Amino acid sequence: MDNINTMNEIRRKVDIVDVISRYVPLRQKGKNFFGVCPFHDDTNPSMSVSREKQIYRCFSCGASGNVFNFVMDYEHVSYYEALQIVAEKAGIEIQGIHISKKDHKNEKFYELYELAHKYYRNNMSSSYAKKAKEYLASRKITEEMIKKYKIGLSLERIDHLTKLLLSKGYDLTTLNDLGLTSFDKDVYMNRIIFPLYDLEGRVVGFSGRRYDGKKENKYVNTKGTPIFQKGNLLYNYHEAREFARSKNQIIVMEGFMAVIRSNEAGIKNAVGLMGTAMTKEQAKLIRRLSENVVVCFDGDEPGRKACLDNGLELEKLGCQVSVVQLEDGLDPDDYILKFGEESFQNLVKNAITLSDYRIKVLKKNIDLSSDLEKTEYIQSVLAETSKIEDEIHQEFILKKLANEFNISYNTLEKRLLSLMKEREQEEKKQNSIKPMVFEKPKIKKDKYYLATYALLYYMLVDKRCFRYYEEGKINFPQEEERFLASEISYYYQKYGIITPADFYTYLENNEKLKTVLNRALELDLDQKVEEKEILDYINTLKEYQKNQEKKRLEKMMKEENDVMKQAELALKIAHLKESEN
Ligand code: UTP
Ligand code: MN
Repeated sequence: MDNINTMNEIRRKVDIVDVISRYVPLRQKGKNFFGVCPFHDDTNPSMSVSREKQIYRCFSCGASGNVFNFVMDYEHVSYYEALQIVAEKAGIEIQGIHISKKDHKNEKFYELYELAHKYYRNNMSSSYAKKAKEYLASRKITEEMIKKYKIGLSLERIDHLTKLLLSKGYDLTTLNDLGLTSFDKDVYMNRIIFPLYDLEGRVVGFSGRRYDGKKENKYVNTKGTPIFQKGNLLYNYHEAREFARSKNQIIVMEGFMAVIRSNEAGIKNAVGLMGTAMTKEQAKLIRRLSENVVVCFDGDEPGRKACLDNGLELEKLGCQVSVVQLEDGLDPDDYILKFGEESFQNLVKNAITLSDYRIKVLKKNIDLSSDLEKTEYIQSVLAETSKIEDEIHQEFILKKLANEFNISYNTLEKRLLSLMKEREQEEKKQNSIKPMVFEKPKIKKDKYYLATYALLYYMLVDKRCFRYYEEGKINFPQEEERFLASEISYYYQKYGIITPADFYTYLENNEKLKTVLNRALELDLDQKVEEKEILDYINTLKEYQKNQEKKRLEKMMKEENDVMKQAELALKIAHLKESEN
């Protein structure tokens, strides 16, 4: 038996309502249970738990899943640890049950990356590595670190790895799809190879740094593949997880060099983006490790902007964000090498709150000779200060402002109080327009949305609908829904039976697909459905596609100059219209 099956068997032995009740008090209302969602800041019971479907979901933040997802997100643990916790709580002996990490449809891909990684690491201990090692040494990356961080080397030969992998029986298409080769050549040539890991610590990509002194294309990264999407990963996530949990703090940096160097400096709760951009997915992963987040980006303009932008995103997820701002031109790696580990540790300890940071940035940009700019500055500072909860902290800021701009403390305080009142009222209003907890959530349902998600839902609970999909009768317009449908289909064919709760086990922590699935479950449809309803939805999607095609042709016609071609297009459009009736 395989993992998914085993896990779902264990899942069926527990009741999600019992398990979640141990973490969050639940109250029954109708056939569902409700509680305060632990995955975002809330006081309303916006999380519902269904005993019938064995899933939970939050109307407010969209968190959803089965019992494993809940434990995993609540306890910040991996899927396999969540399984152990659930089994233990339910008194199920899992000692004898074999859960292997190896049963996965992408297993072949991981093997391939392991092989490639081994090859690159071998190169690093060969005689070809002299120059690379000199370069690494010049950057204070020691032999020990090369081993510890499993750093490799690609050679100048243009198809060494390709040939090696072909000789092991892999086909070129697979190698190309996985970003290891490009046509029949290696992707990495003459670069130092840093392995990139997925959330569970498997090597799924590489970043190759040039070391010939040239600046262009400093890093070449693995392209997006079935196992590597850079927006879904964080460098060092699997290692940092334990430390972030026990410290209840997570540090976010720009790149892996910063993380590696910080790690050497004893800061083990750091993760890396690949650049300054942070996706929603990454923000959620960060939030999952701890709500106390320190952002530490490079000391340059993009770095400063990233502190503000990413900090704001994280705040929206309910994080307490603080900022380490490095001096101009330095990244964490440079800083530690220049000023030492202890000095950097102190910077992290003394990180300032995001509010204070915003005030600092505002200040930098004002022209002190302009009264207008000064007033604007003071207003913005007061707006920031109104968000701070600590009164003592607020008083400090007011005093500083009063002194600096020679304004009476009272005036500032009055203004602050009125801003706080406004904010309070605004928040009240926000809360009152939040969906009513015991009502069905209000989703904007145009008929295409409804058709798409209803069909996805019925694929999970109704064989007829699934069969229509297999016969090619259902065409989902958007890529992510198509992707979910194909995963449902894969699951169904492999296991012969499917339920939403089972399927969650299979999705593991694929947040993207979980979000799509959640939209389908949000419709709160019945399991029983008339065939006619399914057919109606299918027709609605067909109509959608026709409309899209018509729009596309009409646009082409507008842009076309050739009269003959225009006529051809007009004919096509007419045909489309005809087939509608
Ligand atoms: P940095 O330019 O800050 O790299 O980019 P670094 O970590 O300081 O590297 P060194 O010190 O120059 O060797 C941060 C991250 O942005 C991505 C990489 O993931 C890197 O870790 N990046 C940067 C690229 O993908 N390509 C590039 O050309 C540059
Ligand atoms: Mn650097």
